[in-house]
Amino acid sequence: MKLDTIVRGGTVVTPGGTFVGDVGIAGEKIAALGAALDSSGAKTIDASDHYVIPGVLDVHVHLELPFCGTVSADDYRTGTRAGARGGVTTVIDFAIPYAGDSLDDAADNWMKKAEGKSLIDYTFHICITRWNEHKDQIEGMVKRGFTTFKEFMIYESEGWQSDDRALYGTLEKMREYGTMLLVHAESARVLDELIARHHTPELMKQYGARLHPMTRPNFVEAEAIQRVVQWCEATGGKLYIVHMSTGEGADIIRAAQARGVPVIAETCAQYLVLDDSVFGRDDGHLYACCPQVKKPKDVERLWEGLKHGEVSVISTDTCTFSREQKAMWEGDWTKIPMGLPGLETLLPLTYTRGVLGGRLSIEEMCMKLSTNPARIMGLSPRKGSIAIGADADLAIIHPTRTHTVDPKTMETNADWSPYNGWDLAGFSRTTLSRGEIIVDDYRVVGREGRGKWLPRESGIGNRESKDGGTMAAGRTKPPEVVPIPDSRFPIPAAAR
Ligand code: URP
Ligand code: ZN
Ligand code: ZN
Repeated sequence: MKLDTIVRGGTVVTPGGTFVGDVGIAGEKIAALGAALDSSGAKTIDASDHYVIPGVLDVHVHLELPFCGTVSADDYRTGTRAGARGGVTTVIDFAIPYAGDSLDDAADNWMKKAEGKSLIDYTFHICITRWNEHKDQIEGMVKRGFTTFKEFMIYESEGWQSDDRALYGTLEKMREYGTMLLVHAESARVLDELIARHHTPELMKQYGARLHPMTRPNFVEAEAIQRVVQWCEATGGKLYIVHMSTGEGADIIRAAQARGVPVIAETCAQYLVLDDSVFGRDDGHLYACCPQVKKPKDVERLWEGLKHGEVSVISTDTCTFSREQKAMWEGDWTKIPMGLPGLETLLPLTYTRGVLGGRLSIEEMCMKLSTNPARIMGLSPRKGSIAIGADADLAIIHPTRTHTVDPKTMETNADWSPYNGWDLAGFSRTTLSRGEIIVDDYRVVGREGRGKWLPRESGIGNRESKDGGTMAAGRTKPPEVVPIPDSRFPIPAAAR
């Protein structure tokens, strides 16, 4: 086999184990793994003293999303450049129908946003926002190559909210088609009531942005997760809880998975590294996202859930707003555009706080950022692992070299960062997408518009599903991994 490129001498993390050696690439695919691969005629990329890890899949992003009276500031150009710098080689966005639009229209609109701009590969979850109109369109979307759908339990004012009838009916269809429903779980009516009780000039003056966490106690998320897990259990339709932020949520998922309920949970980097003390800052309103970051005990429980297995995926929920956009709040927390930048810092945060912090092994990190997301979202074996035959999507990261987070030097359109001034290791020195170098020496060099849409297959017509492109079981148990034997990259005490 003639190899075009060899990534030489790195510490290569694969689902079968970690080894020091080479990754051989032919065309767009990984073609060989081993020691001292024959490099005649091949271009060589030196990865010695670096980790070579699978490209990250950020399966929860919102690029150029009309939301909260404005449009999120990262589009497919800046968002995917930011991702590439952070080792992300695939994104999954949410195609949300505009008023009166069909599911097909929503997919078409999102295709237009991505085409000609995306640096990396992409696809979309299709959002069902008006059950009566959309329910008969789901099958057509599956046939078109979309196997994951999304419903929101809140956001009535955006026209996105789904009720229990829609959730139950969609989960029945997911069971029938072998597809999966993603749910934003917060309890709309209780949340509305708590917001209404606090929405007075006096309280807004007194508490400012702190009203955001004050009106969203943990039970707002927990009750909604519990309820939709009940519909999942009743229907057998696969369910994926997006951006889980509470310890209570992790407890519910763990118990449901132990009963064999086909539910999977994702958390986001912000819920692992921030807590709600940020709302006490002068610029606390900048940190408003939905759901909001919670308490330190929730942070700890989510890390524990990643380790135990009830939390399967780390994503970002990237939904970037500039300082100017965030200023729309004018002292009323209900008007803050909700969302944070995230694509550029997902891998550095997870690596620094997770791996260097002693909470996850490098292999576990790759499971949560790459292998599990690819499997769960129906993109495996093409994406998510360093394996022969997979797309040559790789990130090469130095084990300890840090970069200081500074929006001025970043690819995102955000003019601020929740992690401003943080020293993070794990930025990608070299990112390869389908064998092509798109980040070189920490700088984006890839051509915009080279990213491809990724169609997916379902088990449609097969009630038991041939895995529907998504995980059949709730718990995404990692395969055996072999730890690095000689601890070549000891964990600096400061990072623990
Ligand atoms: O704050 C967030 N998360 N904005 C995006 C919309 C959502 O709920 O995911
Ligand atoms: Zn959401
Ligand atoms: Zn989201």
